[in-house]
Amino acid sequence: MYLKQFLDDLLGCASYLIASRDAGDAAIVDPSIHVEPYRALLEARGFQLHYVVDTHVHADHVSGARQLARAYPQAELCMHESAPVTYAFRPLRDGDELTLGSVRLRALHTPGHRAELVSLLVINLARSPDPEMVLTGDSLLVGDVGRPDFGGGDAVQQYESLQRLLDLPDGVIVFPGHFEGPCGKAMEGRPVTTIGFERQHNALTQVEKRQFVRRLTTDIPARPLNMTAIEATNRGRADMSWAMPASAAGVPELGLDELEARPAETMVLDVREPTEYAMGHVPGAINLPQADLASRLEELPRDRPLLLICRTGSRSLRAAQFLQQMGFGQVSNIPGGTSAWMNAGKPVVTS
Ligand SMILES: [Fe+2]
Repeated sequence: MYLKQFLDDLLGCASYLIASRDAGDAAIVDPSIHVEPYRALLEARGFQLHYVVDTHVHADHVSGARQLARAYPQAELCMHESAPVTYAFRPLRDGDELTLGSVRLRALHTPGHRAELVSLLVINLARSPDPEMVLTGDSLLVGDVGRPDFGGGDAVQQYESLQRLLDLPDGVIVFPGHFEGPCGKAMEGRPVTTIGFERQHNALTQVEKRQFVRRLTTDIPARPLNMTAIEATNRGRADMSWAMPASAAGVPELGLDELEARPAETMVLDVREPTEYAMGHVPGAINLPQADLASRLEELPRDRPLLLICRTGSRSLRAAQFLQQMGFGQVSNIPGGTSAWMNAGKPVVTS
């Protein structure tokens, strides 16, 4: 058995290469669009790629699964049979197994974050018929579970899937699809845990169903940057791989007084969710939620200064970095965001 975890610090995503060292057969799970590290590892180890698995249709990053399946024609692209995509794939049903020498990847349907989400139990028959690890995608996360509001998700199903995962023995190691990022509310920020630790210390494993559902369906965080374009791309309904944020470059900053005294041609872009915007925004600010930024790019002028604002300045920074990536030359961020604006006693518009 061989397992390598790949971590993407920009997006908080984890992906995996699992192989049987005796047979040299490999699978890649939830690959990033940047596939070179997988290729390099397959080549260095002399592994044959047999399966590429997407645990679900991702909403926060463009998957590299189709790219890998094209580059390795012997490899099968696998997803749960219910995956709502336009391209061909090998459908996985609950209990199906993928064979890599003496290693088995057994599909465990764990809907909730999305309806098609499958976890993969990893069994190394050379040691034991029992699963020793589980790749959970965005079902069970470290200290959290995947949020159900990205389309096709369901909090009750997430509860039931969580119980199913918690039925595994304490010692089973959990490898999630994310260790940071917008797919959960309270991820711990480390990329591995165990069933036993989460059963004891994950707050969402301690509550009964009604409370669990309430926690997942209230105080919902903002949707990820460019989610609309990324989800459509992963479903095969669009080809917008360029919507992937690729940069953490610096962005010019503008103070609140400069924002207030801005020239008339400046556009203030509020990238919060519509409900946040409606509760109070800077006068004149236009709402374009970060989730829709890439899919509505043509609405933005390239010849006028763009000032990006959100609640505290984090979302607007990432949105501004993305606009710079797309060639917008006059982009600035407002550190402190609308909260700082309100705290300074400046005028606010509600709608
Ligand atoms: Fe996800």
